[in-house]
Amino acid sequence: MKATSPLYQPGILEGVPAVARYVLFNLAQGSDAGAVRAALKRLSPLANGSDVVLGIGPALVAALGAQVPGLHEFPDLSGHGVKVPSTPGTLWCWVRGDDLGDLLHLTRKVQKALAPAFVIRHVVDAFRHALGESGHGRDLTGYEDGTENPNGEAAEEAAFARGLGPGLDGSSFVAVQQWLHDLDAFEALADDEKDHRIGRRRSDNEELEDSPTSAHVKRTAQESFEPPAFMLRRSMPWMMSMQAGLMFVAFGSSLYAFETQMRRMAGHEDGVVDAMFGISRPVNGAYFWCPPMRDGALDLRQLGL
Ligand code: HEM
Repeated sequence: MKATSPLYQPGILEGVPAVARYVLFNLAQGSDAGAVRAALKRLSPLANGSDVVLGIGPALVAALGAQVPGLHEFPDLSGHGVKVPSTPGTLWCWVRGDDLGDLLHLTRKVQKALAPAFVIRHVVDAFRHALGESGHGRDLTGYEDGTENPNGEAAEEAAFARGLGPGLDGSSFVAVQQWLHDLDAFEALADDEKDHRIGRRRSDNEELEDSPTSAHVKRTAQESFEPPAFMLRRSMPWMMSMQAGLMFVAFGSSLYAFETQMRRMAGHEDGVVDAMFGISRPVNGAYFWCPPMRDGALDLRQLGL
């Protein structure tokens, strides 16, 4: 029997790759809807959902005269002494693999397929760090990242839209937010202060019940929201020269889980700011819609293609 190909971009569900590039494109001046459609068609064989996961920004959806229910621009959630900037994006590619050189060549192919309608705005190189037996990599602070991610059927439920109809089912809403670590501030903390900021012990990944309400995993505990706010995190460490941090990436069946958690992290719910802000800060933030797949290719019918 022929296996049915998934309705979603499979790279979203696969584990984090060894290396990746986050490539953000702008619309070139003067590009019209026809040029955009032609570029997306040329991109389609490359954006197979595994080597390249594709996300489309709200403004590009609108420029094509299309609509994706529930998609909106990333809100500026600054407040309570912390900055959570909104930097909307047009088209986003998560280029994935196990060799950085191969990724450069793949990025060049993607760039050529999208030219002249789109131009590269920003590329961030990322990598998996200190992969352990659990199958999860670590943030550059040394804490395992991804422990409480949903698995199997629950992961699919958290990450992909369903019940919305053909062209939308299997699609995903992604929040992309680059965090810049202050590793000097982090290293200056005693080990137990570090653990209480995260809410987990770095040495054995045990959750610490007695950590303060500002501890990161207490702020974001997915089942503590009403309704519960489950999503699929696929973040990766990044570095550029001597700057480094986490490219936070979370896929959801809607933008609800990320936005609700981010609001609480920034203190909008109860005035308590996530302790993560003492050792890191977001420098940008954007939402994209990741189209579904049909018969192994991107399904762009919602965009009129
Ligand atoms: C510098 C940025 C960040 C770092 C270094 C970081 C790191 C971590 C670590 C180490 C954990 C514990 C292990 C795990 O369950 O994965 C965790 C959990 C979690 N983080 Fe983050 N995180 C960051 C930003 C964010 C943001 C912006 C959000 C959402 C708005 C978020 C949502 C979550 C969630 C939902 C959990 C699991 C909570 C649970 O249900 O127990 N994180 N994070």
